[in-house]
Amino acid sequence: MGKLGIFVDRQTLSSSVQLISLIKFRDEAENMGHQAYFIFPTEIKKISGLDGLFIRSRTDSMNISYVAARIAELNGVPVIDDPTSIRICSDKVNMYLHLMKKDVPMPKTIFIKKGEVTLENLEEIFKMFNPPMILKEPSTSFSARVERVYTKEEFIKVSRRFIKLSDWVVVQEYIDSKFDWRIGVLDGELLYACKYIIPNETFKIQASVNGHLVYCDVVSVPKEEVPQDIIDLGIRAGNAIGNGLYGVDIKENNGSLYVIEVNDNPSLDGGEDISYPDIYEKIIGCIMNRGKNTQNINLSTK
Ligand SMILES: Nc1ncnc2c1ncn2[C@@H]1O[C@H](COP(=O)(O)OP(=O)(O)O)[C@@H](O)[C@H]1O
Ligand SMILES: [Mg+2]
Repeated sequence: MGKLGIFVDRQTLSSSVQLISLIKFRDEAENMGHQAYFIFPTEIKKISGLDGLFIRSRTDSMNISYVAARIAELNGVPVIDDPTSIRICSDKVNMYLHLMKKDVPMPKTIFIKKGEVTLENLEEIFKMFNPPMILKEPSTSFSARVERVYTKEEFIKVSRRFIKLSDWVVVQEYIDSKFDWRIGVLDGELLYACKYIIPNETFKIQASVNGHLVYCDVVSVPKEEVPQDIIDLGIRAGNAIGNGLYGVDIKENNGSLYVIEVNDNPSLDGGEDISYPDIYEKIIGCIMNRGKNTQNINLSTK
């Protein structure tokens, strides 16, 4: 039994679904015999006295959540998401390089840097990829800076916008599909599976269309109904990043599978857990057991 911190910020608490999910998480920890505390950014110093930390504020290596993860790591407090996973997943270039290194199937992808968006290079790129193609600003999340382009003019316009924010732009083959599989992976095992159904008005799971936000529907899929190759690929992609908690997005097209993204800090409050009521118990168990194992190692080495 121990002290579990849940790192949150005002944004995490801004919607009722997120709040309900956090309270459920806290109650589950208490049911399991732990003491659970919400930790806000101003209380970051309390992290060193915890036995485990679960980060539920938007992770990015430029955010306070990363500092929280580092404080936990430096003090030997087991933490999900761990700083390395945050660093890798918050930069799509880094994340895709990890997938490529492990030969994880993904859409054809290149990275172009500042100064490379020239007419000459565009000729080459348009020969290499059949339009449309997808452009991503590496630090994007929630589909914010992911665009589909058909022409060289669109390519130049979007890439120039992205290059103001980053040294690199990701150029990717467009994979058509009606939904993204979202495979939740914890410590190398399947945690949950669902489908994010792409809204008709757009190609991505959420978008601003004529000033209105449109969101995907979430359909939780029981394990028995998930094809084994999807589960295996989700786990493989998660393992290419680390041994934490990941949400892996997979598209299927013409019988081939493509990993679109590995997310650290995946959403759990959109109905992902409907067929998997033990998600929270498993996450809490994983974090708190890691602490126990460390204590055991310390004791046995004394
Ligand atoms: N190569 C692609 N082909 C087709 N759709 C894509 C592709 N890459 C991304 N998308 C769509 O755009 C969404 C957002 O892209 P993603 O890479 O996950 O960026 P973000 O980190 O902003 O969520 C995905 O969920 C997917 O639906
Ligand atoms: Mg995404």
